[in-house]
Amino acid sequence: MSKLDLKNVTVIYPPPTKDTEEVHALENIDLTIEGNDFVVALGASGCGKTTLLNVMAGFIQPSGGEVLLDANPIKGPGADRGVVFQQHALLPWLNVIDNASFGLMLQKKNPAERKKIVSKYLKLVGLDEFLNHFPYQLSGGMQQRVGLARALSSDPAIMLMDEPLGALDALTREVMQELVLDIWNETKKMVFFITHSVDEAIFVATRLIVMSPRPGRIIKSYNLDFNLRFFKNRDARQVKSLPEFLAVRQEVLDIIHGDEIRIDQG
Ligand SMILES: Nc1ncnc2c1ncn2[C@@H]1O[C@H](COP(=O)(O)OP(=O)(O)O)[C@@H](O)[C@H]1O
Ligand SMILES: [Mg+2]
Repeated sequence: MSKLDLKNVTVIYPPPTKDTEEVHALENIDLTIEGNDFVVALGASGCGKTTLLNVMAGFIQPSGGEVLLDANPIKGPGADRGVVFQQHALLPWLNVIDNASFGLMLQKKNPAERKKIVSKYLKLVGLDEFLNHFPYQLSGGMQQRVGLARALSSDPAIMLMDEPLGALDALTREVMQELVLDIWNETKKMVFFITHSVDEAIFVATRLIVMSPRPGRIIKSYNLDFNLRFFKNRDARQVKSLPEFLAVRQEVLDIIHGDEIRIDQG
């Protein structure tokens, strides 16, 4: 069982331009993700969600604090962390199977082995009939499915997803929320998932962290189980209209809104 530990993590960016100040993007972040956690970070634009994910991915080093995966400091990107971006980041000249194989190619796996592994994950995301399609022949939802399969193919300890459904239309987004939950349930991987949709956050999370900007910090944390309730009846609309769901939703909206008012007032 894997464990990702952030201890007192701070990120300060240098001043973006002359005559501006440095940016305190994250301050004193303590967060542990382990077991079958599905942790969702929710917060207004600019509150440091992507910075937090980038620290976990090893794309940036924190200015202070520690980031440990299974007790080892994260020093850079690695195959033990699968990243899914908001924009699919597929290579337009490669077909579905080659795009999904890209990480394994970098790991120098041989073609037969690559194909075997990737086919399994492309089946899991429902793309087994589109293996030879190119990105331009796929809908937005299908492109994100390729991104998911690519991230899963390295069998990472944790999936890091930065607003993976943010660019999709509302209906596709609902279908994809269920797909992400099914993948989580099937692969038993830890997930760190960013969104600024309150409904999406509450629906998919086992733990929801609400963030606040300047400096980015965690202001509230909830343990939730609406995703598990979804597995019982597979009726997402019903789960999202439960009184308990609506109560959490209202509370979270109040926190985010209250925070915005405080910020506006300086
Ligand atoms: N490379 C950078 N240099 C300077 N400031 C940055 C850089 N990247 C992000 N920021 C700033 O850090 C804050 C957090 O950004 P980000 O992590 O992208 O937030 P979010 O993903 O929640 O929208 C913002 O104020 C943003 O402008
Ligand atoms: Mg972001």
